[in-house]
Amino acid sequence: MRTPGQRRLGAGPVAAAVLAVLLTGCGGGPDGSGAGAPASTAELPAPAQRSPAAAPAKEGTQAAAPAPAKAGSDNAASDKAMPDKAHSDPASPGVVVNKRRPLSPQDFVPPKLVVPRVERTVAAERVRLRPDAAAAVEKMFAAAAADGVGLTLVSGYRSFEEQAATYNHWVGQYGDEAQADEVSARAGHSEHQTGLAFDIGQADGTCTLVLCFRDTEAARWTAQHAARYGFILRYPQGHHEVTGFSAESWHFRYVGPEIAGAMKAAGTATLEEHFGLPPAPGY
Ligand code: DAL
Ligand code: ZN
Repeated sequence: MRTPGQRRLGAGPVAAAVLAVLLTGCGGGPDGSGAGAPASTAELPAPAQRSPAAAPAKEGTQAAAPAPAKAGSDNAASDKAMPDKAHSDPASPGVVVNKRRPLSPQDFVPPKLVVPRVERTVAAERVRLRPDAAAAVEKMFAAAAADGVGLTLVSGYRSFEEQAATYNHWVGQYGDEAQADEVSARAGHSEHQTGLAFDIGQADGTCTLVLCFRDTEAARWTAQHAARYGFILRYPQGHHEVTGFSAESWHFRYVGPEIAGAMKAAGTATLEEHFGLPPAPGY
């Protein structure tokens, strides 16, 4: 039987790109940000996004006071000593959200969300992130551009309601929860709800949120440089049994430069392993 990733790849690049634009999501498809044209249930605006104050398009991180994350300390050992509260607090950059660690409270909304000043996909005009994550995204995208690599922001924060719509969309697409669970988190279990996670694409729009993204220059560049800006690839290839999700070479998570640097230096692939937390292959 084909995996969800194989199914998506098999749909062909054009179909996949259209799907990605329509649904704006990760998990090889919708992991939708809720931004852009409401072309599917994944894009139904949630209450938080209907508020005019929530996401003015002109709002940028320059206006926000970037508060660099200091969830961890200066080395991996002390990062690992972080009390579990830091991994449970959805406001902490050290939070670990997975199939066995739901957000608490379930309807958590980050206190502040801003629109990073970077290129976005057509369907992602209002992608928002926490200010510290947004500032780091701006820096990483600028550095990539300086190296000749064009990145786009495809999705970011999603509310509980948007995540529910995204997950339900995939259940409908695949016809069963088991396959949807490989690519999309159930509501209350997605780190997109923290405002710390986002999905990228490459500037030419090809391979957006599908398996072939892993072979793009954008994926190669970010895999190499993301840690410097405080990001980790949250769902790496070959770690499904720990993360519970198929590999997503486009999904990054802000953890701060200390944690990201420590993980890179140690060659640790997942947050669960870095912090000594149990794997989360299922709910
Ligand atoms: N695609 C990731 C796992 C999410 O839905 O949060
Ligand atoms: Zn994602």
